[in-house]
Amino acid sequence: MTRKRIVVTGGSGRVGRYVVACLAADHEVINADLTPPKDPAPAGVQYVQADVMNLASLRAAIEGADAVVHLAGLDYDWGCASEDYIRVNALGSWHVLQAAEDAGLTKVVLCSSISICGLQEMRPGWQAQALPITERHENRPVYPYGVSKQVAEAMGESFARKGKLEVICIRPLAVILPETLGDYLEFVDAPDRNWLFYYVTVGDLARAFKAAVEVTGIAFDSFYIGADDSSRPEPTLDWYPQMTGALPAQLDEAYFARNPRASVLSNAHALARLGWAPESDFNVMRAAHKARLANA
Ligand SMILES: NC(=O)c1ccc[n+]([C@@H]2O[C@H](COP(=O)([O-])OP(=O)(O)OC[C@H]3O[C@@H](n4cnc5c(N)ncnc54)[C@H](O)[C@@H]3O)[C@@H](O)[C@H]2O)c1
Repeated sequence: MTRKRIVVTGGSGRVGRYVVACLAADHEVINADLTPPKDPAPAGVQYVQADVMNLASLRAAIEGADAVVHLAGLDYDWGCASEDYIRVNALGSWHVLQAAEDAGLTKVVLCSSISICGLQEMRPGWQAQALPITERHENRPVYPYGVSKQVAEAMGESFARKGKLEVICIRPLAVILPETLGDYLEFVDAPDRNWLFYYVTVGDLARAFKAAVEVTGIAFDSFYIGADDSSRPEPTLDWYPQMTGALPAQLDEAYFARNPRASVLSNAHALARLGWAPESDFNVMRAAHKARLANA
């Protein structure tokens, strides 16, 4: 595998720190973020201050790079104003694509989200038309955060169409960091929680970004990146109708027969095209967390 020079925007963030460390094992990495990392970065990783809302600072940060992994932006968790999500996540992504194309880079990996589909909004009028949900499922977001990711993916595709840049969109499910597992468990175990109980560990997600950087021959594509299983102890087809009222007519029974606790979002496309597969098992994570609390 060829060693590349990779710029990671948002490399100081929750996900970014792990992506930077994972890439740094085999590549030269530059973290381009508004703020420096809190913890010391792995050896050889350079930090440059950059603002994705400022094209000039972005151009300076990516000069001489082979690829950009674009993570910088406003995450759903922060509850930002609608116009800020659209402004920073959409225009910031455009700036990254434009600067990358102008500088002659060959690849941009955009960080999209599960939120692009709008199904996690749990609106009565918008539910999965088929299970498991795949990248072929229609997207109908209403929340501005999800809309900003839909716009960013559309912009990525428009750049890829020109044939100069390869663009890969990574759609992480709810990201669990070691330090956020407790909060995540509290969220999913809350009585009457109405949700789809999906997740990905940050370690598995970081490997997906690395696979997206290293893969060749994909002009444009999008990938849901999530665990094989759900975060509920019960079989998925037992709890799913309680959340949404019914199972969709289009149901891949063999998928849920193979793993009764399978995630409602399939990761098969990422396995097929990126060669990526998750390593987590939520029952193991839950048991380990319980043991840690008991020993504390
Ligand atoms: N955390 C999740 O569960 C989750 C799930 C799906 C997708 N995502 C996406 O993953 C990406 C990273 O999210 P995160 O959870 O690490 O968020 P985070 O807020 O921890 O990290 C974002 C980073 O971007 C930087 N940043 C913000 N605005 C910037 C700007 N204008 N210029 C340069 N840097 C800027 C911040 O300083 C920060 O370091 C985001 O695109 C987010 O939408 C996150």
